Amino acid sequence: MRLADRVAIVTGAGRGIGRAIALGYAREGAHVVIADMDGTTAERTAAEVRALGRRALSVTVDVTQRAQVETVVERTVQELGGVDLLVANAGVAGRYDFLEMTDEVWNRTLAVNLTGVFLCGQAVARQMVRAGRGGAIVNIASQRAEIADRGQAHYCASKGGVRVLTKAMAVDLAPYGIRVNAIGPATVRTDINRERLSAPSEVERMVQRIPLGRLGEPEDIVGPAIFLASDEARFVTGHCLFADGGWLAG
Ligand SMILES: NC(=O)c1ccc[n+]([C@@H]2O[C@H](COP(=O)([O-])OP(=O)(O)OC[C@H]3O[C@@H](n4cnc5c(N)ncnc54)[C@H](O)[C@@H]3O)[C@@H](O)[C@H]2O)c1
Repeated sequence: MRLADRVAIVTGAGRGIGRAIALGYAREGAHVVIADMDGTTAERTAAEVRALGRRALSVTVDVTQRAQVETVVERTVQELGGVDLLVANAGVAGRYDFLEMTDEVWNRTLAVNLTGVFLCGQAVARQMVRAGRGGAIVNIASQRAEIADRGQAHYCASKGGVRVLTKAMAVDLAPYGIRVNAIGPATVRTDINRERLSAPSEVERMVQRIPLGRLGEPEDIVGPAIFLASDEARFVTGHCLFADGGWLAG
């Protein structure tokens, strides 16, 4: 019970990595707010959290919209009594040739993946500062914050931004006892890359790059997310923990 009675907001937790983290936090004793653009999947995850005996709230939100993000924090405080943890996980991807990339793709990717992390982090940190008891923020970056791949200029730029934003937030929020870290997963089997993973040659190409010899599963990201949110990481801030099967090492 490393997160006993903490209140966590997890964005994009209707499915995939965010859902796995929300359930992992609940197993460690946390109450969880499931904040996702898809209200139906958000409520489904919330029901799974309640089935584990914790309190849960599902909120439909677009993390690019400041007013909606602030409402999530307000409702969390009203209904669950405060906020101790944030996992800024909501994200979008897609592959587009650099020469063909539209403003729309670029702007939307940066808005969700980078501005969304800023807006959620700022709204939650303001509440944590008001409450005066510190907290922990985990931003979901990517190995693409470190190395590029074809057709991912928009995504790499957004995740590189998240990695450095994490350091900047860590420095600015340290005086308030708020730790800010990131996780950089390699390819994880979720809907975000379902199309790509349906091509066996693509899967083979990626697996060959991973020393541990397999793609990631959402559950592989849960342990790092619990660690970074827990008191076990009390002297860790501004760090990006790459959960990548060794991809970046080889
Ligand atoms: N799956 C991977 O290979 C991988 C690798 C590295 C990093 N990541 C990152 O992990 C995070 C989660 O990805 P996933 O693989 O679980 O993807 P996913 O597509 O399965 O889940 C993403 C969730 O975010 C929600 N979402 C999207 N835009 C939103 C918005 N504007 N506001 C609120 N919610 C929104 C979606 O509704 C969905 O529930 C993303 O930030 C992604 O970039 C994923």
